[in-house]
Amino acid sequence: MPSEITPREVWRERRRFVQTGVAALAAAALPGPAGAGHGGRRLAFRPAPGPFRTDEPPTPFKHVAGYNNFYEFGTDKYSPAERAASLRTEPWSVTVEGACEKPGTYTLEDILRPHPLEERIYRLRCVEGWSMVIPWVGFPLADLLRRFAPTSQAKYVEFTTLYDPEQMPGQRRRVLDWPYVEGLRMDEAMHPLTILAVGLYGEVLPNQNGAPLRLVVPWKYGFKSIKSIVRIRFTERQPLTSWMKASPREYGFYANVNPTVDHPRWSQARERRIGEFFKRKTLMFNGYAEQVAHLYRGMNLRQHF
Ligand code: MTE
Repeated sequence: MPSEITPREVWRERRRFVQTGVAALAAAALPGPAGAGHGGRRLAFRPAPGPFRTDEPPTPFKHVAGYNNFYEFGTDKYSPAERAASLRTEPWSVTVEGACEKPGTYTLEDILRPHPLEERIYRLRCVEGWSMVIPWVGFPLADLLRRFAPTSQAKYVEFTTLYDPEQMPGQRRRVLDWPYVEGLRMDEAMHPLTILAVGLYGEVLPNQNGAPLRLVVPWKYGFKSIKSIVRIRFTERQPLTSWMKASPREYGFYANVNPTVDHPRWSQARERRIGEFFKRKTLMFNGYAEQVAHLYRGMNLRQHF
């Protein structure tokens, strides 16, 4: 199941990553022409402090934006970069529902306006056994959720991706029960490491990376980091996520990176950093144990995998 980077990328990377939906981010964008970097519009941001940026070298952009999981555009790693141009990220809005005092439908501009952007350099560990280091641009999810004034009934937050098979051709096949749904416990959602990302490598998110707005939870397997979010719902009950529906024995709600709890079909003890040859040891909570272990004190992580 773990997949390898192949030379296919060498030519695939030359394909341009079509940028749409950047107007919604114009308020955050720097003046002047589109960035010279990777073809997307540059964002204005400041670097995040210490614990929010690993000093490990970032994975080259060609892999970050060329080797993806985004089943809405196909189940192989190269289809998202080839096909995600059909996603229209503008206009975009997010509906907020459930246990909160300020439900409603918010435009992307409404969502983003009050939040200064930061660069966070995080490890991303995919459940399939590969990992990357990604310089995200985003802001703490907690700061956004507080604006909706969640009530005491809000024990969890559920996130939903856009459902539109016209724009997301992979949704014509029932590989998952669409739309893609993920969720976090409220304390996980409010943790300072948890962010909503709008960019990477200093530019607006390529569509294949979950434009215009995606979750990033660095101590959990990558599948928790849901892309292209259109709905946020506060719930009292634990959300039923797409991967739990598809295969509850394999994909738990917590999905914390844990080298001591294997996937039923493969070991999770090691991982391949994309771009490197030798495998490396997977770290507990993906190396973020100091910051997050307390969230799970007293829980049996074999049972709550
Ligand atoms: N979100 C949606 N909507 N659909 C997906 O298929 N794949 C997940 C996650 N978010 C996925 C998704 C998985 S398995 C991983 S590893 C990460 O996105 C990959 O993020 P990246 O392509 O930006 O590296």
